[in-house]
Amino acid sequence: MTIKDIGFVGTGAISEAMVRGMLAEPAYAKKVYLSPRNAATASRLKAEFDDVEVATGNQAVVDRCDIVVLAIRPQIAREVVSALVFRNGQSVISLVAATERQALLDWIDADVHLVQAIPLPFVSERRGITTIYPPDRGVAALFDTLGGTVQCASKKEYDLLAAASSLMSTYFGVMEITTAWLEENGLERSKAQAFLAPLFESLARRANNGLGIEFADLCGEFATKGGLNEQVLNDFRTKGGQTSLQDALDRVLARIEGRA
Ligand SMILES: NC(=O)c1ccc[n+]([C@@H]2O[C@H](COP(=O)([O-])OP(=O)(O)OC[C@H]3O[C@@H](n4cnc5c(N)ncnc54)[C@H](OP(=O)(O)O)[C@@H]3O)[C@@H](O)[C@H]2O)c1
Repeated sequence: MTIKDIGFVGTGAISEAMVRGMLAEPAYAKKVYLSPRNAATASRLKAEFDDVEVATGNQAVVDRCDIVVLAIRPQIAREVVSALVFRNGQSVISLVAATERQALLDWIDADVHLVQAIPLPFVSERRGITTIYPPDRGVAALFDTLGGTVQCASKKEYDLLAAASSLMSTYFGVMEITTAWLEENGLERSKAQAFLAPLFESLARRANNGLGIEFADLCGEFATKGGLNEQVLNDFRTKGGQTSLQDALDRVLARIEGRA
């Protein structure tokens, strides 16, 4: 199934990723309207895809589309959204981080159908999991095309997964810290990278093979009793690694929930 048209207010990194995912063959959207900012990104997408139009401004995007994606930074969201006139019944998908649903509805000031979403950059390859709140069949179908959807039943669930998504850089951080350690101990950096990237890819694939295997079971499967993997996991758990990770998640959740 495809959608007729979809418009983006804010043409930055995540809009570009979504547009690339939606317009990959077979295309999910018949027409994509972009707001003119950022001009370089908008014109690059227009040059690449026949079904992209760059609108004259944000209001033109809202006027032309039944589904409008808000993809501007939180700092300017109030100013940008309050200036727009929405239609009752319009579908609005907000990607704006750390912004309360009620605040968005107040700024929109029309009886729209609002869903909040956190797509990840991998939507460009149709391999990005997206969290949405509240559950919505149509919006879930869109993000299923882009790699998958988790439909949150409550704001708490949505905030918790937003906190979990802040681990992306740390995933690479573990690889970088290990690479630096290998280098300090005499291994060429390029060999460390050539070893670690495929190792982590295989591990992630094992965890996501569709069988729903529990992570705790994988910990056991990859740790021989008394072996090296078990030793490192035990050190991580007992010498501060686990506490640091849990504290970091607590702190980021507090920030997402406006408590810090
Ligand atoms: N990147 C991600 O992986 C990701 C994932 C989920 C959610 N989000 C959320 O999605 C939103 C956008 O993120 P992003 O990473 O795409 O940010 P971004 O790359 O900075 O894109 C924001 C875009 O908004 C444009 N803009 C600035 N003022 C505008 C205005 N008055 N009207 C219309 N557009 C305007 C900017 O254009 P100029 O460059 O010309 O200023 C820029 O292209 C944020 O709220 C972010 O938290 C991002």
